[in-house]
Amino acid sequence: EAFLPVAFVIGYLLGSIPFGLVLTKLAGTQDIRSIGSGSIGATNVLRTGRKSLAAATLLFDALKGTVAVLIAGYIAGPNAAMVAGLGAFLGHLFPVWLKFRGGKGVAVYIGVLLGLFWPGMVVFCLLWLATAFTTRYSSLSALVAAFITPIFLWWFGHLALAALFAVLTLLLFYAHRENIKRLQAGKESRIGEKA
Ligand code: G3P
Repeated sequence: EAFLPVAFVIGYLLGSIPFGLVLTKLAGTQDIRSIGSGSIGATNVLRTGRKSLAAATLLFDALKGTVAVLIAGYIAGPNAAMVAGLGAFLGHLFPVWLKFRGGKGVAVYIGVLLGLFWPGMVVFCLLWLATAFTTRYSSLSALVAAFITPIFLWWFGHLALAALFAVLTLLLFYAHRENIKRLQAGKESRIGEKA
């Protein structure tokens, strides 16, 4: 129990590493915060036209969540793993290094799911892909997948995980508030459109 705050801090520190920003800076693209949605996530990195950078952002942003969960879980068990997952998610959304303006949490959500309960990650990704193939909206795909994932976890009896991911889903919806407005107004950009 005494380790829980440490688990949170470990998670936060890992989660707050903005891989999208780091990788695009290393590659010398435009500042992703000044293009597209201004977000630091993989979807916005894709708007630079650099698909491999976007894929790497997705991978590393996801894995920082997985690593946080696995480290804390290894040291102190399942509760610490969940707290580290929450910390990583909050670190990604609200990184102290970027004046608390971070990403929208989709990749980290996937990574934390992978670390805690991989079948949940499979369900999330299938829902994301199904929605993306039919609508080509990255944001809507994430909203649909994140809405259903906690229900899936609850349905299969994983109540603590369902509660954790319900909280992450609320935070993810909050992070997508501008996307939700654009979707309602029919102004959201689709995957493959420049901005
Ligand atoms: O992964 C984030 C995605 O759901 C929306 O990103 O850049 O279109 O706001 P963006």
